[in-house]
Amino acid sequence: MSKDTSVLLDEKRLFKPDYHLVEEAHIKNWEAELEKGKDIEKYWEEKAHQFEWFKKWDKVLDESKKPFYQWFVNGKINLCYNAVDRWINTDKRNQVAILYTNERGEEIKLTYYELYREVNKMASALKNLGIKKGDTVSMYLPMCPELLISMLGCTRIGALHSVVYSGLSVGGLVERINDSKAKVLLTADGTYRRGKIIDLKKIADEALLQCPTIETVVLVRHTGNPIKISELSGREILYTTLLEGENELCPVEEMDAEDPLFILYTSGSTGKPKGVLHTTGGYMVGVATTLQNVFDIHNGDLWWCTGDIGWITGHSYLIYGPLLLGTTTLVYEGAPDYPDPGAWWKIVEKYGVTKLYTAPTAIRHLMRYGNKYPQLYDLSSLKILGSVGEPINPEAWMWFYKNVGKEKIPIMDTWWQTETGMHMIAPLPVSPLKPGSPTRALPGIEMDVVDEKGQRVPPGKGGYLVIKKPWPAMLRTLYKEEERYEDTYWKQIPGGVYMAGDMARIDEDGYIWIQGRSDDVLKIAGHRIGTSEVESAFVSHPLVVEAAVIGKSDPIKGQVIKSFLILKEGHKLNTALIEDLQKHVRYEMGPVAVLGEMVQVNKLPKTRSGKIMRRILRAQEEGKDLGDTSTLED
Ligand code: PRX
Repeated sequence: MSKDTSVLLDEKRLFKPDYHLVEEAHIKNWEAELEKGKDIEKYWEEKAHQFEWFKKWDKVLDESKKPFYQWFVNGKINLCYNAVDRWINTDKRNQVAILYTNERGEEIKLTYYELYREVNKMASALKNLGIKKGDTVSMYLPMCPELLISMLGCTRIGALHSVVYSGLSVGGLVERINDSKAKVLLTADGTYRRGKIIDLKKIADEALLQCPTIETVVLVRHTGNPIKISELSGREILYTTLLEGENELCPVEEMDAEDPLFILYTSGSTGKPKGVLHTTGGYMVGVATTLQNVFDIHNGDLWWCTGDIGWITGHSYLIYGPLLLGTTTLVYEGAPDYPDPGAWWKIVEKYGVTKLYTAPTAIRHLMRYGNKYPQLYDLSSLKILGSVGEPINPEAWMWFYKNVGKEKIPIMDTWWQTETGMHMIAPLPVSPLKPGSPTRALPGIEMDVVDEKGQRVPPGKGGYLVIKKPWPAMLRTLYKEEERYEDTYWKQIPGGVYMAGDMARIDEDGYIWIQGRSDDVLKIAGHRIGTSEVESAFVSHPLVVEAAVIGKSDPIKGQVIKSFLILKEGHKLNTALIEDLQKHVRYEMGPVAVLGEMVQVNKLPKTRSGKIMRRILRAQEEGKDLGDTSTLED
């Protein structure tokens, strides 16, 4: 695979939808739907009527305090009510809502009614712990039903959840808990990963030494990893004990459409992670509508999003989107190639998955094992495939299309971000596809590619990807950092547009091609990692004085980290130190930070004001022209 996006310039293949799909699709005419979406307020208002509101909105969109936009002004609604309660008086009452399975082949099924009971218990229990509307609950849990139940329990009572990806480690957990001032942390005795159990409780215990706001720790017994109950400290309680005797139904909190729903941290180019804040009404409308439009959800679908709940993909399209549409969502805990590289295909066959939404890095990983494994299983239940997280290279697209989709079913390449909350650029199942392009902005969304002055660039030319009109599931701010919100997204390009941080180009058919990040954010296996976070992890090691890191292309992960290190006087970067540094960074950041080559240097390229010019390191690495070096200090 080549990460060089110039190969995409030559990509001319066009894949038209199969006529069966067009016959079945809710939306049969892409162009007509795009046309309808041009009246943004009308489009989203129509979609908002699918939910039960306690009170409808007075105004669809309020732009008076831009970029602090408001959607469905004065509308009153509850997400949990619409995702769970709404279904229990319908014929979906006994339909499976959550189908959990793991690499050991264990399985838990919860119907909508059972989910309703569990969520009520959890919500009451949280209230008994003193959690009120507006409080934050942190969750450091594996992909397990308790995580979904707890998130819904929060939204039921108006508490915000802040889920921390279980692949992050002590440093990341501390930072996220402290920034969100969470009072309760939910964690577990472990998570399964390739036959091993990763002890999350141990990591949480270390983190909690530095987290003064946490009053209660709720422990999920998930793997049976031995933890003696007698060893639980005064503020620790087992999940099962917490819920014991909770039989009362817990009333749903009437939320304003603009009340905060959750915080989810993501990496930026500088400083600490950004707490992306999403609110209630617009998020629901945006997420449910895009899932419906892009994946054409029908009764009887079995939806499988392989993304982790700890990232936005899991929030929007593993939990909230599918439940808001009343479909069945499959939750899988484990790796794609364990116990063998047929693990995923076995699940598709066993349960009859109809829609599969995954990431390029997983596809590239599975591609390595050749065509054999998908052929061993019956994949005929699949109707639509999807991809998210980074550009999907045409080779991976073709492999997925041929071997999994059997050249019959389309791949929905969806471009979006933690901040956008919902799909922004994506095809509909009836759209003609070009491998490697997420096609065009969705109906109801206006995007463009512009130069630094905000002027549209001509077709074929690269520029900054921007969003020109507000959209319902947009972030409302960065948690307690309103200025940073304005500066990062809205003040970079003139014209009051949202700058996504990606470079892109538009071809002569209006298809958008994403070229990668324009900032110092890395994409490792689809995970977003800030270079500055990795650098601070390095310099917290006693022998590292200064560090600069850049992303280097990797055939499977997309990118891995190349590090340039200045060490303390008299120290050499030998094998032992490299190993120690690897352990150290992993301890701080978790396995998400995949370290490649490390080199020792005496000096780093800096601006006169002392900022590291990673651009220079990248250019040097790729053997390219160094570009403008006038601000270089030396
Ligand atoms: O660079 C884009 C890339 O992922 C970034 C957003 O990362 P994150 O907030 O972690 O959310 C990932 C899951 C929604 C974007 O700025 N990205 C995401 N999807 C695509 C993509 N790049 C190309 N094609 C995509 N389909």
